[in-house]
Amino acid sequence: MRIPIPTELTKGQYLGNEEYIPKLMNIPYEESIESASNTILSASYVIALVGAGLSAESGIPTFRGKGGLWMKNGEPGPNQYKTFLKDPKSWWINNINEKFDPERTKFRKAIDNSKPNKGHRALSKMEFVGILKHQITQNVDGLHYIAGSRNVTEIHGSRHQMRCIDCETRIPRQNIEMLLEKHPSSEKIKLLPPTCNECGGIIKPDTVMFGESIPNSVLEECMNQASKSDCILVIGTSATVYPAASIPQKIKNNGGKIIELNPSTTSLSKMADIIIRGQTSHTIPDLTQKLGLQ
Ligand code: OAD
Repeated sequence: MRIPIPTELTKGQYLGNEEYIPKLMNIPYEESIESASNTILSASYVIALVGAGLSAESGIPTFRGKGGLWMKNGEPGPNQYKTFLKDPKSWWINNINEKFDPERTKFRKAIDNSKPNKGHRALSKMEFVGILKHQITQNVDGLHYIAGSRNVTEIHGSRHQMRCIDCETRIPRQNIEMLLEKHPSSEKIKLLPPTCNECGGIIKPDTVMFGESIPNSVLEECMNQASKSDCILVIGTSATVYPAASIPQKIKNNGGKIIELNPSTTSLSKMADIIIRGQTSHTIPDLTQKLGLQ
């Protein structure tokens, strides 16, 4: 079965084979770790798809679980990007107003105060020894890099960057913040939306909005990694947002294996070959230990 890969950020759900879950759920934890380790060692190109669960233990709330960012005020609608394009100035005025959306402000502060946890560090170790070739992360917090990982694609962008919507040039978020801080409130509004020094295009946060296409270069890299992979670790994600959620499906369709690491069942569990239940600050270090990494 060919699965079309959407380029825009959309919500969806894939319904796989229900029979897999009960079968895999009965396997004891130690056995799952061992069979994941064996599968990883016999694969030729292991990658990971990462979600908010990995950073939960760094104090950053997830999106859909208890206390999740979208649970209080609801998930942004599919027209989030269209709304931005219609009136980027108003969007920016709200964006720099911390009181406009207190939940969003809390989320941003949690990211800014966060540090990598044992899960991030264990992934970085796996990359360092050459076992893990690439991480496609939906997280915008940059913690993979702080933990030492280098082969990372941030499919939903980065909180630490801004991006031109026309030429994809990225600049550090701090540059825009510093520029705005220099000006009194009345002047600030005239500077919004910020524009690109390269092409004059409108600047927006690098984080991808619902209804916005994943930047071409980013999606290409993800698909390139997926096409090389014969084993994917699906870590701390509900796997409900596309195109990211289609990546494990693509690998499975090509005959590859899916190893899910998540305390809960997800829409992808039905397709998984191995399921490791638990918090990733425990499960990933347990896996690296089994792989012989100290
Ligand atoms: P979700 O909030 O949808 O899912 C988080 C997942 O993490 C759930 O499956 C939890 O069971 C799991 N989880 C919770 N605590 C965990 C822990 N300690 N260890 C491991 N897993 C744990 O987050 P994502 O799947 O990342 O996009 O969401 C995908 C995208 O939806 C996000 O990137 C974001 C959002 O809309 C944008 O905003 C662009």
